[in-house]
Amino acid sequence: MKNSMTLQIGDILDSAYRLNQNSVWAFDNFKVNEGQQKELIFRSNVAEKLTDDCMREIIHHHSVDVMDREVKRWIKDIPENGWILDVGGCCAWHWRNLHLDRPDLNVIVVDMVEANFQQALKLCGGQINRNIHLVVGDATALKIRSESIDGYWSVQCLQHIPDLDKALFEATRVLKNNGKFKTYDLNYRKSEKFLFRLLGKERVYGKIVQTENIFIRRSSREVDGIFRKYFSTLNIGYSEFLFKPRCGLKYGVRSIRGLADSMLTNIKILAFLARQHSIAARKNQ
Ligand SMILES: C[S@@+](CC[C@H](N)C(=O)[O-])C[C@H]1O[C@@H](n2cnc3c(N)ncnc32)[C@H](O)[C@@H]1O
Repeated sequence: MKNSMTLQIGDILDSAYRLNQNSVWAFDNFKVNEGQQKELIFRSNVAEKLTDDCMREIIHHHSVDVMDREVKRWIKDIPENGWILDVGGCCAWHWRNLHLDRPDLNVIVVDMVEANFQQALKLCGGQINRNIHLVVGDATALKIRSESIDGYWSVQCLQHIPDLDKALFEATRVLKNNGKFKTYDLNYRKSEKFLFRLLGKERVYGKIVQTENIFIRRSSREVDGIFRKYFSTLNIGYSEFLFKPRCGLKYGVRSIRGLADSMLTNIKILAFLARQHSIAARKNQ
């Protein structure tokens, strides 16, 4: 395997991939895993209808300030010219400023929903097919060469995959030795469960919820146990303390509340209030 200095996207993707005219890498007859076929249809329909700037949509679901700071921190020690894989990367919004911070890095954004990439093209325009590559694929069956990736990043995607073991097997397969792994998922909190019970919405809150289209597995000790099968040391963190979209607590980009929230990240004593739970690890450590 060539080192990161000389790796090209063609060295990393399976030879079945073709770069289509819409600037997206895809292969014939792509099919997502059994458990997510309804979700794929649902999310594709949502993405097709999205005409607005996707950042306007993102601020309803994620704290952009918190996550921008997380990205900046995380990429610091990715080796020069390294390759990052963002699994379930949607419109690639985490990487829109990568060319300012680490222009040497390359990102492969894998998502099962090709329509999400229409927004990525608008948001990251000049970076696409230079240092950001949009790739249709399934986290549980990545068509990516083994031991080719320096950093595996995934935000609120693994929680939707029923067979987490398969996704983690793939994560550790594609990572180089000592490669970085980071995932963020929704945190299961007893306080929120209580609130939902009071509101009579208990059915939509639980450690595992299957709605008509989407499966959600919130982070918990049991779920951490699945990660421990693949990584010997887990560094668990917490984030999004002031961002509670379901309770109307949101903020825009570069806001005072966002800045304050990013400063609270990883204060473990506040874990019971955190909307997100994260796991950082390294392969073979
Ligand atoms: C909740 S969204 C999060 C999007 C993005 N990571 C972010 O931070 O805004 C989950 C994303 O994961 C993608 N996804 C879900 N399951 C996937 C799978 N098995 N393989 C690839 N992408 C998947 C979805 O299409 C969607 O874009």
